[in-house]
Amino acid sequence: MRKINCIGILTSGGDAPGMNAAVRAVTRAGIANGFRIMGIFRGYEGLINDDIREFSTEDVSNIIQRGGTILKTARSKDFETPEGRQKAYDNMQKRGIDALIVIGGNGSLTGARIFAQEFDVPCIGLPGTIDNDLNGTDSTIGYDTTLNTIMECVDKIRDTATSHERIFFVEVMGRDAGFLAQNSAIAAGAEAAIIPEDSTGADQLEKFIGRGIRKSKSSSIVLVSESPKCGAMYYAERVKKEYPEYDVRVSILGHLQRGGSPSAGDRILASRLGVGAIHAIQEGQRNVMIGIKNDEVVYVPFSNAIKSDKPVKKELIDVLALLSI
Ligand code: F6P
Repeated sequence: MRKINCIGILTSGGDAPGMNAAVRAVTRAGIANGFRIMGIFRGYEGLINDDIREFSTEDVSNIIQRGGTILKTARSKDFETPEGRQKAYDNMQKRGIDALIVIGGNGSLTGARIFAQEFDVPCIGLPGTIDNDLNGTDSTIGYDTTLNTIMECVDKIRDTATSHERIFFVEVMGRDAGFLAQNSAIAAGAEAAIIPEDSTGADQLEKFIGRGIRKSKSSSIVLVSESPKCGAMYYAERVKKEYPEYDVRVSILGHLQRGGSPSAGDRILASRLGVGAIHAIQEGQRNVMIGIKNDEVVYVPFSNAIKSDKPVKKELIDVLALLSI
């Protein structure tokens, strides 16, 4: 196996709070263990365009508390093509980069997997996404901060919901996953969550109304996972039509969910995962995502990590239903 002297690091896909803490951890743990660290800017685009510079420990000073990513990020269309990946590989060769650490979500780790297979390059992934939709890790970098952000927003919306006796449908991110909606609903004491994983689909609204929520409460908040067809607007329109006696409003939280200073939980997670990535390289691991399961650092093959079937526990659905009576 080729000796690894120089490691490239990039952030890719949607930014997530805690990505900077991960960049810091990889850089410092890498340098402490004798590696050179190359910061690659704008995700895979930077690898294709040779937007790369060597990092010192000072380059990552004073960033652990900052949201976003100092490396910038992008969703690269070029990297989806064989020509783009060839350019990326050529630049790695030119720069003497022997291994890659990719911080990102499903799409980014899928890209790393393909690249690793095509060019026999050691790639290590760190789960960086607010959506928490990667398998093999209890949490992803950014998820905890975003949960807290949503909870604070819902606390505020609650004031208006209570004062005006309204039903609010609050739409949150998550792409195809309901972790953010389900758990922020529990944290904010919301009346219901409508998530893609609950196979009752559109009838989740009926379940909520059917529980007679309005009999015991004069206002309600329902968290709704984003969806092109069945987002918060869809449910609000249905209620307006089917139950005209209710005063209904929609609030779509949007990108404010992705910003802000990372929580302690995300900073610690990102720091442990970043150090774990350097250890993994030292141990000769390749093509794995570093995760934390039951408080232990684990190596998850890319193929498992990116399977889009991470389940939302039934217990969480039951907890919310029970506590929202
Ligand atoms: O994957 C993170 C995420 O924030 C999703 O929750 C959301 O669907 C998507 O990215 C939004 O992407 P963009 O910032 O490109 O609109």
